[in-house]
Amino acid sequence: VSGYRVGVVGATGAVGSTILEVLAERDFPVSELVPFASNRSAGKRVSFDGSEREIRPLSPDSIQGLDLAISSAGGSVSAEWAPRLADAGAVVVDNTSYWRMHDDVPLVVAGVNDDAVDAHRGIVANPNCTTMEMIVALKPIWDEAGIERIVVSTYQSVSGTGRRAIEELRTQARAILDGDRPESEVFPHQVAFNVIPQVEMFSDGDDYTTEERKVVNETRKILGTGEELGISATCVRVPVVTGHSESVNVQTRDELSPDACRELLARSDGIVVVDAPADGIYPLAIDAEGSDEVLVGRIRRDASHERCLNLWVVGDNLRKGAATNAVQVAELLHQRGQVRAAREPVRVG
Ligand SMILES: NC(=O)c1ccc[n+]([C@@H]2O[C@H](COP(=O)([O-])OP(=O)(O)OC[C@H]3O[C@@H](n4cnc5c(N)ncnc54)[C@H](OP(=O)(O)O)[C@@H]3O)[C@@H](O)[C@H]2O)c1
Repeated sequence: VSGYRVGVVGATGAVGSTILEVLAERDFPVSELVPFASNRSAGKRVSFDGSEREIRPLSPDSIQGLDLAISSAGGSVSAEWAPRLADAGAVVVDNTSYWRMHDDVPLVVAGVNDDAVDAHRGIVANPNCTTMEMIVALKPIWDEAGIERIVVSTYQSVSGTGRRAIEELRTQARAILDGDRPESEVFPHQVAFNVIPQVEMFSDGDDYTTEERKVVNETRKILGTGEELGISATCVRVPVVTGHSESVNVQTRDELSPDACRELLARSDGIVVVDAPADGIYPLAIDAEGSDEVLVGRIRRDASHERCLNLWVVGDNLRKGAATNAVQVAELLHQRGQVRAAREPVRVG
């Protein structure tokens, strides 16, 4: 059997634990799985494909001999360790925001801009979850009718912020139902029974958040456009555990009717059209959870503009929004012979 020595950095996290599941589900050729997390977790175990693996801390020694590393341990960890992992011979698929906008780092959504992966120099970046699911839904429209402008408002789940955020929602919900006043540590305000119009931070006096800036910049990088594509984003946190919902208003270059859009999306890979609103059928976060497809519904004409459509887009932020896309990028690297072991296969068993 041949396969790769695969490191998963951040293996105890919301994204990392999903990466372990998706690697096993999709039968990615793994000869040895090496889970990494912080020193706090060293010696603990995670399960992969039915057996237990011991977690290691990142160190110059522990990262030797990997063919591929999929990293989701935060921007500062990737800033330091992605180049070190690449120097040690691994191709790194990075889920954090740190490398996404670097010129030498391709930003890849599998099924949207696969060929971009070929330009990598050791690191490939995975886009932000909000951008990822929007772009999966919009790419067929981009190809068919062109897009001039996008206005998106998001309804983002707490798991997008990680494990501690899921716990905060649960703890706050219990406290409120018990009549107590909850504390907020992860989010800037109470998230349970509330809606917060701030995802991530306002930095340097900017009146858009870092998340909103990512949606704009990453979308343009993936589609290979500049400011000629107008994008306006408002990112909002809602008390949902998993699944980001997005209201997307898209202005096309050419006319596209709602029916033609529905048919186009229905025959596109990675998308499921869920659109019979009169029967109460439209995408729901609780239905998207666990799915690798992006759900699109409420496809309708914007009555205020002849070339604008409104869509409701929902995806699992931990799967296609993060882990599934990272594993699909690893598959692209494998298929294109760009993982070290593809040139020097590791023989095991
Ligand atoms: N959640 C999403 O939907 C999503 C989507 C796309 C991208 N991302 C990005 O993915 C990254 C992780 O997100 P998450 O939601 O999985 O967060 P999380 O649940 O908080 O997990 C963080 C992981 O990083 C590990 N870690 C922290 N410091 C480390 C260090 N110094 N060295 C090695 N490992 C360290 C943690 O290990 P311990 O258990 O030992 O603390 C844990 O495994 C973030 O950069 C995030 O922006 C998240």
